[in-house]
Amino acid sequence: MKTFYITTPIYYPSGKFHIGSAYTTCLCDSLKRYKQLQGYDARFLTGNDEHGQKIEEVAKKNNMTPQESVDYYAQLSQDLWRNLKISNDDFIRTTEKRHEVIVEDIFEKLLANDDVYLGEYTGNYCVSCESYFTKTQLLDGDLCPDCGSPTKLLKEETYFLRLGKYQDRLLKFIDDNPDFIVPETRKNEVVQFIKSGLNDLSVSRTAFSWGVKVKSNPSHVVYVWIDALSNYITALGYGSKDDSLYQKYWVNGDEVIHVVGKDILRFHAIYWPIMLMALNVPIKFRLFAHGWYLMKDSKISKSKGNVIYPEQLTEKYGLDAFRYYIVRELNYGHDGAFTPLDYVSRINTDLVNDYGNLVSRTIAMVNKYFGGAVSFKKHNDEISKYEEDLRTIAKDVFVNYTQSMDEFKVAQALLEVSVLVKRTNKLIDDTFPWELAKDDSKKEVLESVMYHLLESIRLINIMYIPVLIETTAKVFAMLNIEENYQTFNSYEFGEKSEYQVVKKPEHLFPRLDLEVEEKNIKAMMDSNKVQEPEVPKIEILPEITIDDFAKVDIRVGKILEGKPHPDAKKLLVFTIDTGDKLRSIVSGIANDYDPRDLVGKNVLVVCNLKPVKLRGVLSEGMILAGEDKTGKLYVIEASLGMKPGDKIS
Ligand code: MSP
Repeated sequence: MKTFYITTPIYYPSGKFHIGSAYTTCLCDSLKRYKQLQGYDARFLTGNDEHGQKIEEVAKKNNMTPQESVDYYAQLSQDLWRNLKISNDDFIRTTEKRHEVIVEDIFEKLLANDDVYLGEYTGNYCVSCESYFTKTQLLDGDLCPDCGSPTKLLKEETYFLRLGKYQDRLLKFIDDNPDFIVPETRKNEVVQFIKSGLNDLSVSRTAFSWGVKVKSNPSHVVYVWIDALSNYITALGYGSKDDSLYQKYWVNGDEVIHVVGKDILRFHAIYWPIMLMALNVPIKFRLFAHGWYLMKDSKISKSKGNVIYPEQLTEKYGLDAFRYYIVRELNYGHDGAFTPLDYVSRINTDLVNDYGNLVSRTIAMVNKYFGGAVSFKKHNDEISKYEEDLRTIAKDVFVNYTQSMDEFKVAQALLEVSVLVKRTNKLIDDTFPWELAKDDSKKEVLESVMYHLLESIRLINIMYIPVLIETTAKVFAMLNIEENYQTFNSYEFGEKSEYQVVKKPEHLFPRLDLEVEEKNIKAMMDSNKVQEPEVPKIEILPEITIDDFAKVDIRVGKILEGKPHPDAKKLLVFTIDTGDKLRSIVSGIANDYDPRDLVGKNVLVVCNLKPVKLRGVLSEGMILAGEDKTGKLYVIEASLGMKPGDKIS
């Protein structure tokens, strides 16, 4: 039997998992179930990445020890996967002994082979990404180029992994294995990155202790990515007494797939194969880099109030609706947005109207016209051309479906199935069974139509097995389809020749009211909003002297007249008495003020600013205003008793 080993990345237990993490896991789950249907011996690994400074900090925030914190999240995540009926065969936690002892050995092996050496590193460190960055990589303000968080300048003794040594070998490997990284565009990015030159990688830390200690020098903790990447083989027992799974699924395995988000591709496409080369372990895996679920083009974030948790959706709309939506909505390798309306529409269209409706209509008709039992009937009625058509489409759809699934295009594969669902519904529209039922001489033709509907539902249901766990089981039961007709091998029109369906079909998916449910999901998202403490970021300008300041002539001015700028929406034009003369002053406060409300007020005006024309209107000074964090402007008024021309200093 051919083997298939599929993995998710191991997740950081730094909060409750949102739909983004559920996406990767559901995708892998569908692919594993698909491979099983194809007859593979499939193994599926997921788990949590429990070491590192970030995890230590999360624990502190939670008022827990790191171990308590990771234990808590491990429970939460395993509960979530169980609820989503994820079929993982193992769940690895990097704090488990079975993993830690092997990571220690891996590090020592790399040291012994001189692929890792001791040196010193100075650079800006991002705790959130657990990575160093060079000055040129940083964003303005020394912010992390990957996540935008502030970085800290650190200098530490560290071990380095010789990446440069393996650069050419890695490029050759990628060249020799064109499917190593898919999609192609992602592969090109990786190749570009490697070609720009690989610096040796810092692979140990001394600034914190929550990690696997370097055995021969315990003041160092193994870099969290070296620790994490190893999970894919430590979970198979690599380097341990019983390494039979490693031998079976890795060394002698047929297919190994790491499914990863685009953000962590580099770690998997560069560090991981180089680690394996250095360890003399065969590179058996391929990488599939997927896109991200975004929320209206921005990242999922609790403080923005756009988080939605899988449990909220499954509780309200059912497990299969969630599993279907999550793998159906993101196109191969691309980002996509979650919106409440899309969620409800997708379920209504594909599952309620198309599939659910087809199944219930068919069962009802088979009961009404044939007491629930039909078998294959040959006839020469012209209706046979519609049936023939359906059979051809069923064949083509399966070819496209398998091709898409083989290329990890789960959304595309489901789209293919929809083609058959629609076509099967169309058979009803084309043949008018209720009319055929009125004519006794058409009894056989009608039975044949019913048979074709049932057989088509069977085929559709087989293709849905990897995704719609509960529904497909219900449909097989309602149509009394034996196990041997629930397989890819039995995917052939006519394979099952007789049907006996249940009397009363169970409702598969309740219809959803778009408006009501959109509101409901929005309310769920609002309820998830947490006010994260705002980090004040006030940047003071470079120092000046009192003489510099004295150059600015600020006076009290009385606003005599105010009106909109004729040519610019954001600007207002004022006539202001500043004691010396009446000035025309243009001010960009139109978003926050109605000009009439300011007439009669004494404000502060910079009087010696060089006059300019703003969109054609002369401005002889500037009204002082303050701005809050949201960008709202506040005109500064002079204290009571001050007169036009009074000086401010
Ligand atoms: N711990 C590392 C992975 C180590 S693997 C040896 C990590 N963890 S993570 O929790 O931050 O991310 C895990 C996976 O979730 C990544 O593949 C990431 O791309 C994915 N996703 C996180 N947010 C996501 C979305 N909004 N949408 C889709 N996937 C997302 O990185």
